[in-house]
Amino acid sequence: MRKTIIILAAICCLFSCSKEAEVSSPDGQLTIDFSLTESGVATYRVSPKGVSGELGFSLIKIADLGVADSTMTDAIDLRDGFSIVNISTSSFSETWETTWGEEQYITDNHNELVVELKHKSGIRMDVIFRAFNDGFAFRYRFPEQVGLDSFMIMDEHTSYRFDNEPIAWSIPWRTEYYEAIYTDAPLLSKDSMCDPITLQWADGSYGYLHEAQLVDYPAQNFYIADSSVCTYLTPWQNGVKAYCRAPFQTPWRMLILTDNLSDLCASRIMLNLNDPCAIDDTSWIRPMKFIGIWWGMHLKTMTWRQSPIHGATTANMERYLRFAAEHHIQAVLAEGWNKGWEGYEGVWPDERFSFVEPYSDYDIEYLSRLADSLGVEIVCHHETSGQAGQYQQEMEAAYDFMKAHGITAVKTGYVSPIITTLDGRQYNCSQSGVRHYREVIQTAARKHVTIDNHEPVMPTGLQRTYPNLMTQEGIRGQEWNAWAADGGSPASHVCTLPFTRMLAGPADYTPGVFDFSNPVQPNTRVHATIANQLGLFVTMYSPLQMACDLPESYMKHPDAFRFIEDVPCDWKQSKLLMGEIGQYVVFAREDRHSDDWYIGGTTDDEARTLKLDLRFLPKNRTYTATIYRDAEDADWRTNPYAYTIEEMEVNAETTLQIWLASGGGFAIRLHAKD
Ligand code: NOJ
Ligand code: CA
Repeated sequence: MRKTIIILAAICCLFSCSKEAEVSSPDGQLTIDFSLTESGVATYRVSPKGVSGELGFSLIKIADLGVADSTMTDAIDLRDGFSIVNISTSSFSETWETTWGEEQYITDNHNELVVELKHKSGIRMDVIFRAFNDGFAFRYRFPEQVGLDSFMIMDEHTSYRFDNEPIAWSIPWRTEYYEAIYTDAPLLSKDSMCDPITLQWADGSYGYLHEAQLVDYPAQNFYIADSSVCTYLTPWQNGVKAYCRAPFQTPWRMLILTDNLSDLCASRIMLNLNDPCAIDDTSWIRPMKFIGIWWGMHLKTMTWRQSPIHGATTANMERYLRFAAEHHIQAVLAEGWNKGWEGYEGVWPDERFSFVEPYSDYDIEYLSRLADSLGVEIVCHHETSGQAGQYQQEMEAAYDFMKAHGITAVKTGYVSPIITTLDGRQYNCSQSGVRHYREVIQTAARKHVTIDNHEPVMPTGLQRTYPNLMTQEGIRGQEWNAWAADGGSPASHVCTLPFTRMLAGPADYTPGVFDFSNPVQPNTRVHATIANQLGLFVTMYSPLQMACDLPESYMKHPDAFRFIEDVPCDWKQSKLLMGEIGQYVVFAREDRHSDDWYIGGTTDDEARTLKLDLRFLPKNRTYTATIYRDAEDADWRTNPYAYTIEEMEVNAETTLQIWLASGGGFAIRLHAKD
C-alpha cells in the first residue's frame, strides 16, 4: 500500500512571458534550459551532459476534417511558430512505499518547470520538465481548449542530440515482441531502435532513454536523422499515431544520467513518473515463486493440446502441486489446461481459445480443492493468440471463472499468427495495443486478479499505479534456449539484460534450468551452468518468479534446488555490486520480510574471478553464508552440472573471492544470525 512520508510541493515562482526558462535538479548538478528559436521552435538543452533537442508535433484536428484517415498534407505543423504564454516552477519531495519491488521505499525528489506555449495556429501546448538528481524527463500537455476537442497525432517530433556520442545498447523497432538480443554500437550508427536504449559513454558514465507512464498513446521508437535520435511513434494500421481528446498529456520522455552503472540500476525515475497506487486494498497482491507445466512443451516432450503426452493432465498437475507444497514454492502454472490448442502442430493456431472450458483430462474442480488443501496457488494461463477483441469481451467471465476456482494469478499471452499484432491488424505497441493491455490490467484489478503479461508492450512503470500488473515478458526469455534456430542465447545475454530491458521493469525470464539436455533440438541449449541459473534468481528481478525446469530435473540436484526454495522475490533494497554490460553482473538484495541478504552473479563466456566486498552489510551483524558456485571444472559447454556448496560466517568486513566458469555464476544466501 502506498504510504506518503513527506510531501513538500510548493509553487516557487511565476515568471512573466520570457523567451527562456530553466530548472535544476535538487542537488543543482543538472540543469534543463528551455528556449525558443527566432522562428519559435521549442528546444531544450541539458547540462552538464550536453543533451539537446527539439519538441513538437504534426496533428490534425478531427473537427476540421471529419474523417479519421487523412494524409500528412492536412496536418498542422507544431514544429515552429510557438510563443511563451507562461512559465512556472515547483519542487517536490516524497518518499513512498511500494506494494512490492526491488525497493521498499522510494524517494521522489525533483524540481519541475512548466512552459505554457501558444502556437501561431492558436493551439495551446504545455511542456512539463522534471529535473532529478539522476536524470530528467518531460511530457507534452494539450490543455482543454476551444477547437481541440478531438485530434489525431500524425507525428511527434521529439529529438535528442548528444554532444558526445555514446555507445547504445538496443534492439530494433518491430522486433518480434521485443524478444531479441540487445546489441551495442555507436548511437548514430544504429538503424532503428525501440524503447529502451542504454547509453554508455567513454568516461564511464551511463544513460537510459525510455518513457514512463505509457497511457492511451503509442510506444516510442527511434531513428537517426541529422545526428539526432528522433522519435517515431508506433502507428495504427492507417498511419495515424494517436487519437486524442484535449485535455491530454503524453507519456513522459525520460533520460536517466548517472556517473556509474550502480546508480543507473538504482534510479527510480520511471516509477516516480507514474501515478501513485490506484488500488486501495492491495493485500491480495502477493509476490510468488512458481513452477509450472511449461518447459516440457517448449522442449516438445509434452503438448499443450490433449494427446498421449498432454502436459496439463490431472495427474501431472497433482504431481506439480505436491512438489510445490513440499518445496516451499507458492504456486504452479498450468498451460494447455483449456480448449483451443487442438490445431497447434508447430504452427500457431488461428482459432479461438476458451478461457472457461478445461480439457476433459484436467479436473479443475479436484485440482483447485487439492491446491487449496496444500496451501499452493494455481497460476492460470490465457493464451489469446493475439485475439485482443475476443479477450476483451471474455475476460470478465474468465476472471470470474478463475476466482470461482480460487485462482488469483494469470499469465496472458498474445502470440498472433501475424507476428507482433493484435487481431492481425494493430501492433501490440500501438495506441490500440496500449489501450487493450490497460483495460486488461484495470479489469483484473477490479476482479482482484494479478497479471503476468506475455507479448506485452514494453513496460513503463505502470505497476506503481496498478501493482496487480506484476511481471511481463517483452524479453528474449529462457524459452528461446529450448527451440531457437540460433542455438540459444549466448551467455552474455543475461549479463546484458539487467542493464537494458530489466531497467524497464520486472521480466518473466523464467530462470532455473537444471537439465541442459535437449532431446528434440540437441544443437539448441542453455548456455549456462547450474550455478549461473541460481544467480539469475537475484540478477533478474520478477515478483512472480518462475523456476522453469521440471520437478524431476530439480530432484537430481536437491542441494542446489535449496537456493530456489529459499530465495525470495520481494526486496527491501537492491544494489548492483559490480558489472560490465554484456560481461558480468552481480546484485545484492535484502529480503523484504527478514534480515537476510541474497547475492547473485553471472558471467559471459569468459571465466573470471570476482572479489566481493560485503561492506554493504550492516555493521555488527554476522551472517551464515551459503555459497553456491561453479566447481573448478565447470564450463557451460562441457560440464554445466559441476557446482559446490559451502557454508561460512561472514560480516561487513569480509571479502569473498568467487570464481565463475565460462557461462557460469553463483548465488549466496546470507542468513542473519541473532
Ligand atoms: C509464448 C509465451 O512466451 C510462452 O511462455 C508460452 O508458453 C507460449 N506463448 C504459449 O502460450
Ligand atoms: Ca514469448
